[in-house]
Amino acid sequence: MPKSLLTIADYRKAARKILPRMAWDYFRSGADAQTLLKRNRAGWDAMELRPRVLVDVSNIDTSTTVLGLNLPFPALIAPMAYQKLAHKDGEIALARAAAASDVPYIVSTMATTGLEEIAKVPGPKWFQLYCHKDRAITQDLVQRAEAAGYTALVVTVDAPVLGRRIADERNSFELPKGMTRANLDRYSLSSVEGKTSRKAVLSPRPSTLKAMEGSHLSELFRTRQDASLNWRDIAWLRSLTDLPILLKGVLRADDATRASDAGCAGVIVSNHGGRQCDAALSTARALPEIAAAVGGKLAVLVDGAIEWGTDILRALALGADAVLIGRPMLWGLAVGGEQGVRDVLDLYRSDFVRAMQLCGCANVGTCTELAGG
Ligand SMILES: Cc1cc2nc3c(=O)[nH]c(=O)nc-3n(C[C@H](O)[C@H](O)[C@H](O)COP(=O)(O)O)c2cc1C
Repeated sequence: MPKSLLTIADYRKAARKILPRMAWDYFRSGADAQTLLKRNRAGWDAMELRPRVLVDVSNIDTSTTVLGLNLPFPALIAPMAYQKLAHKDGEIALARAAAASDVPYIVSTMATTGLEEIAKVPGPKWFQLYCHKDRAITQDLVQRAEAAGYTALVVTVDAPVLGRRIADERNSFELPKGMTRANLDRYSLSSVEGKTSRKAVLSPRPSTLKAMEGSHLSELFRTRQDASLNWRDIAWLRSLTDLPILLKGVLRADDATRASDAGCAGVIVSNHGGRQCDAALSTARALPEIAAAVGGKLAVLVDGAIEWGTDILRALALGADAVLIGRPMLWGLAVGGEQGVRDVLDLYRSDFVRAMQLCGCANVGTCTELAGG
């Protein structure tokens, strides 16, 4: 690893220099005034750990299991759309790096590579589902993911509509020519778009664009995603598949309890990296009540501004089973493709080892004893 790339912040700065403005803004932005981006970070910073001393940490075990998956350390890769915007090899580079590090990779519905092609890269993978208005499309996506060998379904529930990303609006964000939402290419748009024509959605003239409320992306979201999604749909999704279902975007204990009652296998405590409701709770603050309500019964994962090994430790201390890493994967991808992602994963892992040693944790099970700051 070059000496200039020692921290996640270093990767972020390097990626910023490399990425075209439209891609950087799309990846980095939060919603509205972007306060939650900062509060997610501040939430972890505010949490102090109680290190234990005089524990033999000369030989520690960082491994754990989540829903039957063996993880080398308690981290997975968060689902993120449009990875070819970061690097030409996009999702395939990320999947290869994940496989080389044995870290599970959650593939987004909005990937720029088809889920079947990504599944050919070995390594554990889950599929993230955005529920379409057209339930036949939703059902097909679930069945394709199951057939391709994905081992869990991550249903995103914090996006009935798209959060307002002002930079994307200013940039009139859209995918460059030749890049597509590969998982959705095969479905006809006409059945779900009502009055909006395919032409208007995919190649807006300036006048059409002006008429749109928000960016290209929010228009696409509005026409395709289902704002009526509710608990009955979770029961329907369960009836479609034997895959374990995790709900992504849960911030309240009562919703987590309801997820448990609905037969879900896990919840991901997330505010979408601050990209949806800017006034929402930071994940470090939301996590303890959710872990208290469903920890042990459901897998409890958390994401948002996890940048240090000590952040993973903090999350475990607050009751999470593992964390999801989002944007830093894109920074690694932009900086060095597959190798860049491998380097970032190595950075997390070595940082987590040091954090455990400094806090007197010989294995992941003992990390829960560090809370109390
Ligand atoms: C560029 C970008 C695209 C994203 N796309 C998706 C997506 O397609 N589906 C989804 O459930 N979450 C998506 N997310 C949210 C991430 O899965 C994750 O919750 C968030 O990025 C975690 O915060 P972090 O980036 O601070 O680590 C996206 C986030 C970013 C930054």
